Amino acid sequence: MAKYKIAVLPGDGVGVEVTEAAMIVLKKLGLDAEYTYGDIGWEFWCKEGDPLPQRTIDLLKQNDACLFGAITSKPKDEAAGELCDDLKNKGLVYRSPIVRLRQLFDLHTNLRPCKAYPGNPLVYKEGIDLVVFRENTEGLYGGVEWHPVPENVRAAVDSHPAAKKFASCSNDDMAISTRIFTRKGCQRILRSAFEFAKEHNRKSVTIVEKPNVIRETSGLMVREGRKMAKEYPDIQLWEANIDAMCMWLIKNPFDYDVLVSSNMFGDIISDLCAQLVGGLGFASAANIGDEFAVFEPTHGSAPKYAGQYKVNPMAMLLTVKLMLDWLGEKEMAERTDKAIAAVIAEGKVRTYDMGGSNTTLEVGEAVAERL
Ligand code: IPM
Ligand code: MG
Repeated sequence: MAKYKIAVLPGDGVGVEVTEAAMIVLKKLGLDAEYTYGDIGWEFWCKEGDPLPQRTIDLLKQNDACLFGAITSKPKDEAAGELCDDLKNKGLVYRSPIVRLRQLFDLHTNLRPCKAYPGNPLVYKEGIDLVVFRENTEGLYGGVEWHPVPENVRAAVDSHPAAKKFASCSNDDMAISTRIFTRKGCQRILRSAFEFAKEHNRKSVTIVEKPNVIRETSGLMVREGRKMAKEYPDIQLWEANIDAMCMWLIKNPFDYDVLVSSNMFGDIISDLCAQLVGGLGFASAANIGDEFAVFEPTHGSAPKYAGQYKVNPMAMLLTVKLMLDWLGEKEMAERTDKAIAAVIAEGKVRTYDMGGSNTTLEVGEAVAERL
């Protein structure tokens, strides 16, 4: 029996292509794993009314980890219009499968390294090396929202003194999305950030929130962070507001190190950090729970490039590196990182975004050769 069982969900669009590139690297590494492919994505929404079928959830439960490509997402109404005829008008609502996976498997930590590899023509500045920890199950992504607002919820809202200004608004003219933080949720993401900083000798952890305005939720995160920081005397704790942080990261990207944030702010700041190091073509991510993890490049399925094998697989190859790290295969992870760095630095094999004309799979092969 293989040492690891890995579910592979290529998804759709270029997700399929970058997953092929990942498999070239994994095969060459000789990771002792059994790979099982599963269904996810747009095709299953249109045909079955569910982009994340129950059989795929069952498959994930039987595996140690999941490697995920990319999927197409569309707004609610557009998605409903693309359902096959038998499924139309049945009240089916499209929900992002990756957001569901994070919730279903309690994948509380979203780890997003953003490192500028030397020789990458797309980086903002060489030497940038940031790591974003994004809380992955709560906050604005918690899914607790209403429109129209039900009477019992309305009553609770009206009991708050600040709700006076909405008094004349009808329930139908109001929409509510909640931003719920729990102490446990804050502690888990802060713990992941501090432990990472300690293990990798990082100098600082910056909490990116907005406690001056969003006093209760951002406030809880910051208070928990201050308490936890006492356990890590060698790591500096900094606090920054999300808006100012977007500015500071452009101005002084070298000042920062590990960033930790709630779900929505972490989503925003991680795209900004990704762009500093070359864009989504270099943005890898790990959705980590206590016992299971899903690894995904943060880019989408890029439908306009689908089938052309031209997109950059580097984000996916960096994601493979994250998976190897999480599995405990440190030596393989290190080799993968070095091989990626070597291919970037040599600059001979590059996809179009980096000024080259190589295919997705040629980049995968080039990295595999240097392992
Ligand atoms: C990400 C993406 C997702 C998110 C989308 C695809 C739902 O932007 O992983 O950052 O918002 O979390
Ligand atoms: Mg995002």
